[in-house]
Amino acid sequence: MTSPILDLAGLTLEVNHLPQGVRFYTQVLGLTLLEHDEERGVARFEVNPAQTLTLWKPITRQANDPRLAPLRARGASHLHYAWQIRPEDLDPSKAILDEHGLTWTEIDLGTPERPDPTVYFFDPFGHGLELRGVDLADERQPAYPPAPVARPPHALPVMGLREVALAFGDYEAMLERLPRAYGFAFAKEQPDRNFAQFTLGPGPEPDGNGTPRRWLYAWDPQVGLADMFGGDHAHVRFYADVEAVRSLVRTEGLPCVQTGEGLAVRDPEGHVFEFVPPPPRQG
Ligand SMILES: [Fe+2]
Repeated sequence: MTSPILDLAGLTLEVNHLPQGVRFYTQVLGLTLLEHDEERGVARFEVNPAQTLTLWKPITRQANDPRLAPLRARGASHLHYAWQIRPEDLDPSKAILDEHGLTWTEIDLGTPERPDPTVYFFDPFGHGLELRGVDLADERQPAYPPAPVARPPHALPVMGLREVALAFGDYEAMLERLPRAYGFAFAKEQPDRNFAQFTLGPGPEPDGNGTPRRWLYAWDPQVGLADMFGGDHAHVRFYADVEAVRSLVRTEGLPCVQTGEGLAVRDPEGHVFEFVPPPPRQG
């Protein structure tokens, strides 16, 4: 089956202090602030023309996004996610992290013949971030290929969101449900951990070696590389063929709401997935 999922559109994180989140994500990541509304507990940033990052501060008796209130959507807690950068920007990024006083860990995920160094660090809220080099000339291009974005001085030169890692308490059920209920393209499992990789594109592809593709990783509750956790109760947005996803979700019988042209679904593990139509490509 061709997967109806086209690309990663955005991610929402739960934070307990919005101004601190706005400072971190504008100053360290250099993201463009689109809105900051303390009353609604929302700060939203542009990552690039196709992707956004959102922070939600939970407020009692109030939904951060009223459209998603029936699904009890929350931002993710302690979520591991990765940013795409150019490989040559990795070393300068370590110096930028040092300048901001952030501790980082480097791990080589490649082979001696083809190194694939990656750098991990945490935001002030316990979300685990990663900088992963991507080969812009690789032929495995996502729907919205990464490209350099102008960032302020002293900000990390991130291009786009690469991957999101979610925790699932019932790992075996998740392995069957994600392809069946939403159409995610299962790529592979790690041999030594309960860790599944889904390619966000029409079909499964090999990960690694600088692929510019985007990924959904799904783990059981575990501490992964560099002490990273998979996120709980995440809200993740995907570009998709919404009608194709809707027919799968309807067959599965999952709770969902219509959100404009999109569809939001509450997964049995408490994650809320939003599927939105692809915007017209720029340039
Ligand atoms: Fe990662």
